[in-house]
This record gives sequence, C-alpha cells and structure tokens, in this order.
Amino acid sequence: MRLSQVSQHLLVFISVLSLEIITWTNSAVSAQAIFYPFGSSAGDTINAAADDGSSTVIPLSNPFPFFGRTYQQIYVNNNGHLTFNQSSSAFVPYSFPASRSQDVIAGLWTDLDNRQRGVVSYRQYTSGNVLTRATQDINTHFPNLNFIASWLFVATWDKVAYFNLNNTETSFQVVLISGGHFSFILMNYGDIAVTGQPVQAGYDTINSTHYFVIPGSINGSFISNLRNSSNVKVPGRWVFRVDGGPGNSKNNVIGLKMRLSSFLDLTQSGSTEIVLQQIKQELVKYGLPNSIELKLRKLQKTKL
Ligand SMILES: *[C@@H]1O[C@H](CO)[C@@H](O)[C@H](O)[C@H]1NC(C)=O
Ligand SMILES: *[C@@H]1O[C@H](CO)[C@@H](O)[C@H](O)[C@H]1NC(C)=O
Ligand SMILES: *[C@@H]1O[C@H](CO)[C@@H](O)[C@H](O)[C@H]1NC(C)=O
Ligand SMILES: *[C@@H]1O[C@H](CO)[C@@H](O)[C@H](O)[C@H]1NC(C)=O
Ligand SMILES: *[C@@H]1O[C@H](CO)[C@@H](O)[C@H](O)[C@H]1NC(C)=O
Repeated sequence: MRLSQVSQHLLVFISVLSLEIITWTNSAVSAQAIFYPFGSSAGDTINAAADDGSSTVIPLSNPFPFFGRTYQQIYVNNNGHLTFNQSSSAFVPYSFPASRSQDVIAGLWTDLDNRQRGVVSYRQYTSGNVLTRATQDINTHFPNLNFIASWLFVATWDKVAYFNLNNTETSFQVVLISGGHFSFILMNYGDIAVTGQPVQAGYDTINSTHYFVIPGSINGSFISNLRNSSNVKVPGRWVFRVDGGPGNSKNNVIGLKMRLSSFLDLTQSGSTEIVLQQIKQELVKYGLPNSIELKLRKLQKTKL
C-alpha cells in the first residue's frame, strides 16, 4: 500500500480556560427562592454577636478540595468571608488577586456587625433534601459532570448590619459543595445595602494562582447589583468549580486550529490518537495541566 502525503487539518478543542459568563437581568426574584435553608429553624449553629468576630474552628465532616489543597476545617468570619487555617477579624478586605498566604472565600467581605442586627450561622449536611437540591443545582449549572453531592456546608449572613450603619440589612449565603473529586462554591445574594466601605466578593487562593472577583463587588456604591448578576443565569447566584480539575463545563472551551502534514493517514482509526497524544505533550510543555483532555471535532483530508 502506498501512502500519499496528505495535508490534514485538525480542529482540536481543549478544556482549559475558565470563561465566566456574566448576565445581567432585571427580574426581581425573591432572595429566599435561591437561598438554601438557614437559621435556627434549619438547625444552624449561630455565631456569637461580636464585632469582627468569628465562629470557633469548625471541623469538616468531609474534606473540602480547594485548588489542590484539601481542608478539614473552616472558620465563618462575621465580616462575610470564610478562611481555613485561622479565623479572620479583618474588616477591611484586600483586593483580589492579592497573592497572600491564605485561601479566602468571600461572600461579601466588608465591615459587618452582627451585634447591631442580623444573624450569621452555618451548618453541614451529608444527607437529606438539601443535598439533593445541591446535586440538581450543580448538574443544571455544570452539565456533563454527572455530579452527586455528598457534602454541603451552608454559611448565611442574614440581614446583618454594616458597622455603624445600624439600620442596614445585608443578606447573602456561601455554600460549599463536594462529591467525588469535585468541589464547588455557590454564592446566593439577597438584598445588599449600599456601603461606603471597601468590599470584596469572590475568592483568592494562596499566591493568587486562582481568583475571581464578582463584577461590581469592588465599589460599595454598586454592590446592590449583586442580587441581580449571575454567571449561571440565576439572578443573585454565582457558582464556581474549585477543585482545580480540568474541563469545568462547556463554558470552559477554547478552540485551537492546527495545520499539519503527515505521512500517517489520520482518518485511519488509531492514527488520530497518536497525533492527539503528541499535541497534548506539546501543550503540556507549554504549561497546561497534564490532565487536559483533547477531543477531535473535525478532520479534513485534502490531497496535495
Ligand atoms: C439590580 O438590583 C439593584 C437593587 O435591587 C437595582 O437598583 C439595580 O437597578 C438592578 N440593576 C440591574 C442592571 O437590573
Ligand atoms: C493551611 O492548611 C493547609 C491544609 O491543611 C496546609 O496544607 C497549609 O500548610 C496550611 N497553611 C498554613 C500557613 O498553616
Ligand atoms: C449603632 O448602635 C450603637 C450601639 O447600640 C450606638 O452606639 C451607635 O450610636 C449606633 N449608630 C447609629 C449610626 O445609629
Ligand atoms: C507561594 O509563593 C511563595 C514565594 O514564591 C512560595 O515559597 C510558596 O511555596 C508558594 N505557596 C504555594 C502554596 O504555592
Ligand atoms: C465608587 O463609585 C462612586 C460613584 O460612582 C465613585 O464616586 C467612587 O469614586 C467609586 N469608588 C471607587 C473606589 O472606585
């Protein structure tokens, strides 16, 4: 059999980059509709009323994977953020990315004061309806993962006042979700009062290898928009996959078009696999994670 030299086009799609889709809507969905159960009626543990206070250390019943680290404990800080290794009394957030030496998840990190008004509370779940709800939500927001939630951590700041603004009420929720090797953060925003204080919402890892700032969360003048912005088309909700694994969803696809000449007939099964592996090795050399998956979308054969 004679092999003719053929010029072949490979269109390869790689799941690597995180492309966050932001949508703005005007629909006034009730905050309670997107919130997971919270408060004493839901069996939450309630933080002491203390300015710049925190929960005590909370041992996690399931470990939480977060961009390559696995945490067994967490703190719910009254000023609107979660930290893992130690509690935080910081009432002035730093701007992400900050390249600090801690992982932080900020529902709305700012100067809150639960002595004046509101309740900060949390609870873990390893069974029940809330877990089913999280499974459904994640599969809706991230199709194709066949995710099953086995653990949830729900932290809620309900109608909490800003420091020295005793009449303000701000409500939001941070939900940590894990199952298998996947983990997610889901943020729900209700009414968020305007504030002149610095604010920050999103997350920032050690050395800022991964971070996200929810748009509009830098300037407290615009912070009330959190209740109607989203990256998952649900006003007031932001969801992030945080286990650090590859291929988050259809939203995370970039295209790469290559032209290559080969004596192999790439339309023969087996040949494409070899070439894909070679392309993968090249891409890994350029710093992409070894776990990337290449999928062949289209192969065209043209005689020279
Ligand atoms: C978002 O919600 C805030 C507060 O409810 C409102 O003032 C603002 O106009 C809304 N923005 C958009 C773009 O719908
Ligand atoms: C924080 O906790 C993680 C996970 O247990 C650990 O790997 C890391 O060394 C800790 N960092 C500090 C600064 O203690
Ligand atoms: C808020 O409450 C504190 C303590 O009750 C009080 O000292 C302070 O004056 C109040 N501030 C405002 C702006 O109402
Ligand atoms: C963060 O950066 C410092 C300084 O470059 C380095 O020593 C440390 O190992 C890094 N930490 C992580 C978790 O990558
Ligand atoms: C926040 O927005 C207000 C209103 O537009 C503006 O006056 C202020 O300078 C902004 N602050 C920052 C830190 O961007």
